[in-house]
Amino acid sequence: MSNQMLKTKPFTPAKSTPRSNQQTKRTTRTPFVSRVEIPPSTDVPLFNSGILGIIGNTPLVKLSRVFPDAHFQLFAKLEMFNPGGSVKDRPALNMLKHAFAKGHIGPGSTIIESSSGNLGIGLAQACTVLGLKFICVVDPKTTQQNLNILKAYGAQVDLVAEPDPITGDFLPARINRVKSLLASIPNSFWCNQYANFNNAHAHHQTMHEIVTALNGKLDYLFCATGSCGTIRGCVEYIRTHNLKTKIIAVDAKGSVIFGDKRGKRLIPGHGAARVPELFQPGLEDEYMHVTDQDCIVGCRRLLRQEAILAGGSSGGVISAIAKKAKEIPFGATCAVILCDRGERYLDTVYSDSWVKENFGDVE
Ligand SMILES: Cc1ncc(COP(=O)(O)O)c(C=O)c1O
Repeated sequence: MSNQMLKTKPFTPAKSTPRSNQQTKRTTRTPFVSRVEIPPSTDVPLFNSGILGIIGNTPLVKLSRVFPDAHFQLFAKLEMFNPGGSVKDRPALNMLKHAFAKGHIGPGSTIIESSSGNLGIGLAQACTVLGLKFICVVDPKTTQQNLNILKAYGAQVDLVAEPDPITGDFLPARINRVKSLLASIPNSFWCNQYANFNNAHAHHQTMHEIVTALNGKLDYLFCATGSCGTIRGCVEYIRTHNLKTKIIAVDAKGSVIFGDKRGKRLIPGHGAARVPELFQPGLEDEYMHVTDQDCIVGCRRLLRQEAILAGGSSGGVISAIAKKAKEIPFGATCAVILCDRGERYLDTVYSDSWVKENFGDVE
């Protein structure tokens, strides 16, 4: 973990500013406010014990088959190698570690989070090791497989069955449920991944691992976005270390983070229905939107060419690179973060019948 102490500055809340497709690229970097709260000591042995001790230090592999004629080098950070199967193991552990160090949680605490996927699984894993109770607030869109995984870890699954009556969305309904649980359960703590700077802070280490493996030479990083924890942490590391790396945010079409109109999305993991507090204008050098079909095509290409069975957002970033390839300078070094494993997508992304039913003939 980087020991860099970053000064705390007032945080400007993110606003969703619609931008046209022509304005996805920044020519100059907007001043970016880094804000990471680091408590005095987070070196608590329990948080590094057992399975939690192997979170991070995931492999970085060179991909030479997925773009065989590429004029650039491409490396993939395989976050699916984390024990809970995704990039979200890192923030799950880091948010709990810091909450503990600040005295917000301790023995007997109940952790509460609204998550239908990877963060919930990462928290369930960490809470099992730490002996903490975990309540995961989900909605009917959570896959049966994720519900089964959460329950297998011993998490209490709290289903919000009805959307918010005003907006018709599940997200506000889930947040309301989190708040009422917090009010009624003593010694309870909400990680609040969308606004928790220790979500982003976890990824200073992710970026450190990537640039160290590449001896500091990295021209482009392609990064999927959801809570914006990964991209924010990576950008904070890039800027505080004065690296020249350009960061390309890859968001889901229909996600509102970069001002797109809200739309239906079937592939979970990336994208957000509201702008996360962790997002800040100027974070990315460029952003791109990928459709569900792009994710499917990219995932299948990655599997066929590299034998990497990855989740939906990984296919999205691979398709984003394919779209961007012509603009990448000759000899550039690029890296991509592959966020999770593909096994949890066998009934969707990798199911021919599901793909045909939802999208017709893809590829
Ligand atoms: C599969 C997958 N891809 C991308 C993301 C986005 O990562 P972040 O929340 O750090 O922006 C997530 C977040 O849960 C995810 O599960």
